[in-house]
Amino acid sequence: MEIQFLNRGIFQRIFGVPATSKPSNPDCWRFSDGKLTIDLTKAPELKNSGGAIRLEGGDLPLRVLVTVDDDGAYRAYHNRCTHMGHRRLDPLPGGGVQCCSVSKSTYDADGNKIYGPAPEPIRTFPADVDGDRLTIIIE
Ligand code: FES
Repeated sequence: MEIQFLNRGIFQRIFGVPATSKPSNPDCWRFSDGKLTIDLTKAPELKNSGGAIRLEGGDLPLRVLVTVDDDGAYRAYHNRCTHMGHRRLDPLPGGGVQCCSVSKSTYDADGNKIYGPAPEPIRTFPADVDGDRLTIIIE
C-alpha cells in the first residue's frame, strides 16, 4: 500500500500543529453520559467529504477527531497518536488519518497503524447519524 503524506511545513511538523481546526461554532457539540453529540446544522466543516473537526476540552474526557469519508460516512478517532509525542491527527484524502508530527505515523480508517513508529492502533468510536444529529459513543 502506498502511503500518502500530507503537505505540511517542517515547522508545523516539528511543533505538532494539526491541519484540522476546532469547529467554527463551539456550540455545535456537547458531551454527556458517554455520548458526544454534534448538531450538523452548526458544523459546516462536516458538510462535505474530506471535512473534519477536532473536539477537545470542556467535559470531553479525551480529544476526538471527527471526519467525513469520501462516501459521506462519519468517523471518529481518539485524536492522540500512540507514538511517544502523542500528537494530534489529520484526515488523509481517501480515508485514514496521519499524525501531524515529523514521524507521520499513519493509520487506516479502522485505526490500524500502516506507517511510522507508532506502537499501537488508535481507538475509533462508533458514529451514528439521525437527521442532523451525529452521535459518537465514547467508551
Ligand atoms: S507523535 Fe505521532 S508519530 Fe510521533
